[in-house]
Amino acid sequence: MSASPAHVPASDRLAKPDTANDLVAAVWPASADREDDGIVRIGGVPVTELKERFGTPLYVLDETEVRARARRTRAAFDAAAAEHGTTAEVYYAGKAFLSTEVVRWVTQEGLAVDVSTGGELAVALAAGTDPVRIGFHGNNKSTAEISRAVEVGVGSIVIDSDAEIARVAEAAAARGIVQSVRLRVNSGVHAETHDFLATAHEDQKFGFPLARAVEVVGRIRELPSLRFDGLHCHIGSQIFGVAGFRESAARLVEVHAQLLSGGPVPVLNLGGGFGIAYTSADDPTPIEELADGIVGAVAGECAERGIALPSLAVEPGRSIVGPAGVTLYEVGTVKPVQATDELRRLYVSVDGGMSDNARPALYGAQYSARVVSRASDAEPALARVVGKHCESGDIVVEAEYLPGDVAPGDLLAVPATGAYCFSLASNYNYIPRPPVVAVAEGSARVIVRGESIDDLLARDAGISSTEGTE
Ligand code: LLP
Repeated sequence: MSASPAHVPASDRLAKPDTANDLVAAVWPASADREDDGIVRIGGVPVTELKERFGTPLYVLDETEVRARARRTRAAFDAAAAEHGTTAEVYYAGKAFLSTEVVRWVTQEGLAVDVSTGGELAVALAAGTDPVRIGFHGNNKSTAEISRAVEVGVGSIVIDSDAEIARVAEAAAARGIVQSVRLRVNSGVHAETHDFLATAHEDQKFGFPLARAVEVVGRIRELPSLRFDGLHCHIGSQIFGVAGFRESAARLVEVHAQLLSGGPVPVLNLGGGFGIAYTSADDPTPIEELADGIVGAVAGECAERGIALPSLAVEPGRSIVGPAGVTLYEVGTVKPVQATDELRRLYVSVDGGMSDNARPALYGAQYSARVVSRASDAEPALARVVGKHCESGDIVVEAEYLPGDVAPGDLLAVPATGAYCFSLASNYNYIPRPPVVAVAEGSARVIVRGESIDDLLARDAGISSTEGTE
């Protein structure tokens, strides 16, 4: 596999710009705009107002952008499916970002919801989602989680292991219902950013090898409390292009065709993973192109085998919420550091870090940043945005050109943080998790409350018990 831009050290791929004030369109929500006063608005709300009302760090989520992305994804798959005489369901993968408000936005825009734990299921239900429009997957669902999913009537449960066949069957039988289930299989295709890799064997925890699907589905079909609904596969995340999906579709349809001899197979779920732009180096495939490519690949494979095209399902998370999120920080210290004989950079410390965005530390993820509380004519300087955690790997943006006069008190924003930042947040170093504020059409409101230090102390049984004994 060739090195993708994500693996090139950011300081090597960055060219020094003339100004560090611009907002790269693909990376920021469409509503982000720096006005004449130099202050950036998101969803029509000045970042300075956001700071004043809600503090920093702050997750800002552009409702209009989430809704537009959900709508556009739905429309793209509807159109591609209709062209081939079938239908497609788009599930929103809640693991990317889950709150009741976001679930309401995406379900109002016509998406179903994919959950992977009892906690995610609880949020989807609390949002009022029709349980039939919820899919539940995960490699180690507890019997309590399975019972709850069956009890509330989720539309499908994705079976991930041999043990789960009996667990789901028993939960359904105990309630006298027939539960619709899908089978998680591994197509052997692994897609990662700009490349994909196809292997014959899998060494990972999810699902069944494709070679076992016929036998396992045979067992499912013998159980009266289960109804086999189709195969389910997910080849990876942050995928660019359709090649990986095409290869996966070929392998899946081959097995899907074999399964038809034992009964109906109404659905084929191809998973999520559509890539987004984190920096100007990323050039994601437009969703319409992906939808055409994916649906076209399945249709082609089905036609070749002379079988009917099933209903299709996909479950993107990142591409719906990722580009709609911006994290707002306040700069606390700026430190020039001579990194090597040739390389000098500014270490710009902000009031959050790896507790609100674990992705750089976990995956070496690249982001960009801008000073958003003012425009600056100062010459751009190479900077590294770092957090306030006690760890040198606490990096928010590995390399970015920021105005050379970046200073304490400036507001700094990191775009494309809508997916897997809030959901991966921690309290490392006892830092309270930030609130999430939704912006739209000039107004802002809290959709997830932030934590206070008191919230964190409230979990400490030593403190509570002392109070309790007095
Ligand atoms: N469906 C299944 C079965 C999945 O496992 C995932 C993601 C998705 C759908 C949604 O994938 P998306 O469209 O969001 O790429 N924490 C990592 C990503 C983990 C993805 C896990 N599964 C990150 O921050 O990059």
